[in-house]
Amino acid sequence: MAVSASFNEQDVLNALHVVQSPYMTIDVVAADMIHDITISDSNIRFTLDLKIPPAFIQENLEAQLRKALQNHLPGLGEVTIDLTVSIPSAGDAMSKSVVPGVRNTIAISSGKGGVGKSTVAVNLAVALAQAGARVGLIDADIYGPSIPLMMNVQSQPRAYSEDGKTRMLPIESYGVQLMSIGFLVRPEDALIWRGPMASGALKQFLTDVDWDELDYLLFDMPPGTGDIQLTLSQSLPLSGAVIVTTPQDIALADARKGVRMFEKVSVPILGLIENMSYYICAHCGERDEIFDYGGGKRTSEDLAIPFLGEIPITTRVRVGGDKGVPIVELEPESPVSISFRETAMHLAGQISERNMTQPSAPAIDISL
Ligand SMILES: Nc1ncnc2c1ncn2[C@@H]1O[C@H](COP(=O)(O)OP(=O)(O)OP(=O)(O)O)[C@@H](O)[C@H]1O
Ligand SMILES: [Mg+2]
Repeated sequence: MAVSASFNEQDVLNALHVVQSPYMTIDVVAADMIHDITISDSNIRFTLDLKIPPAFIQENLEAQLRKALQNHLPGLGEVTIDLTVSIPSAGDAMSKSVVPGVRNTIAISSGKGGVGKSTVAVNLAVALAQAGARVGLIDADIYGPSIPLMMNVQSQPRAYSEDGKTRMLPIESYGVQLMSIGFLVRPEDALIWRGPMASGALKQFLTDVDWDELDYLLFDMPPGTGDIQLTLSQSLPLSGAVIVTTPQDIALADARKGVRMFEKVSVPILGLIENMSYYICAHCGERDEIFDYGGGKRTSEDLAIPFLGEIPITTRVRVGGDKGVPIVELEPESPVSISFRETAMHLAGQISERNMTQPSAPAIDISL
């Protein structure tokens, strides 16, 4: 005998309200993740529309949703969950930009050089791709490109001519679409370029490259607060900047400068990442806090910006960088890779939540 359900759609939503969206501060209903609820007898079917890349969160989240329904709806029958993924875009301004197929653009920056921006950019990009997102990475460090070596690319991008202009296809490595000045000229040739030429090269990476539809386009920035930062902020409605720092006071002071620079040009700060946060011994796996631990977290609290994660220092990261195999690809289950993955997912959550809850930036008209 069929049992008619003693609950309706609203009861289902009320039950699911208690489940937090992974890596966000809002619940799954507020994040618009629950669609198409149907109830037949005491069975429930609905669509879970994930707003961040699915790979590492799906199973756990589905289990939480089932548990919430069981706890709140007596007499519950079968629960069927259909999965879709739609990563929110930065909005109209982005779809009217020079890269209309790209949903979100993120500058990986630092006030001080050598803190690990390129290492962080590469590993976040690969981690987001591993998680199921479509990702691109532009090497915006025109004078000191790192991407060709770190992503093991020796080839040149394919080029073709359209209306008398040369267009290029990005090169793919480890599931990430890439463009770097290092693919096109010898690094020592770019080194003698004047500022406008370097800025021009970055603009061309946006206007003359066939970027696919991408959920995230990351920029590996040069250190500091110079022309390239300004060019980028004037060329795109950036979803925001991520500031990479190390725990020493000097780096933290420079991180503050970086935050202020982006605030001046109205680029939102998505958060701070502390790299080389603590030491993990490659032999015994033991953790050692060589610098004053927790400085990045304290600085982000002072500046009222999100803290996205901390990455340990370990020889394996440098080895991976030098070999052209990002550590998240080389040793995906190592503690440092887990840190990178967690940080990437926090970043994804932060971007999606902002896109769903805050008004988007005004459109930018880029004239070359
Ligand atoms: N977590 C880490 N553990 C060990 N080594 C690291 C880590 N992060 C970065 N490194 C190493 O530190 C060096 C500098 O890193 P990277 O080139 O990523 O810094 P950067 O901020 O991009 O530098 P620049 O300002 O010159 O662009 C590299 O040799 C890299 O392999
Ligand atoms: Mg770099």
